Amino acid sequence: MPPSIDSILERFPNKQREDLIPMLQEIQDEFGFLSEEIINHVGAYLSISVNKIYGVATFYDNFRFGPTGRFHIRLCHGTACHVAGASTFIQELEKQLKIKSGETDKEGLFSLEVVSCVGACGLAPIIEINGEYFTQLTSEKLNDILQSFRIKDQDIYES
Ligand code: FES
Repeated sequence: MPPSIDSILERFPNKQREDLIPMLQEIQDEFGFLSEEIINHVGAYLSISVNKIYGVATFYDNFRFGPTGRFHIRLCHGTACHVAGASTFIQELEKQLKIKSGETDKEGLFSLEVVSCVGACGLAPIIEINGEYFTQLTSEKLNDILQSFRIKDQDIYES
């Protein structure tokens, strides 16, 4: 059974402000994103204002405030991937999907997360979608990958 919010909060009995980031991370790992209700709950527990929590959490790219898309894209922006042009792919994805990192498109199809090194630097640049890795990315490959997931989504709905 997954832990409840309270059981996660109880792992931080000292209720210190420094607990905020690791606490939010644990909650997101468990629940997938940080809902307004969760943020309120955390604020009450740590005696921190909701605005302050949003201020801190939005500073980090890896926190999400809504559910992920049916296909969750994690684009590596570690050093090797950066050198290999990952920034271009971030821009391309943001433009094509009309979202920023941490957001989900309006159809709920794709969500985007920019992450640090996923540990396969020799194959940079890399993206991972729902656990599947795509390496030595090029713009052409990226378009084909997105298209293949769009088709996969149609197949799921038509079958
Ligand atoms: S920097 Fe991307 S895999 Fe290491």
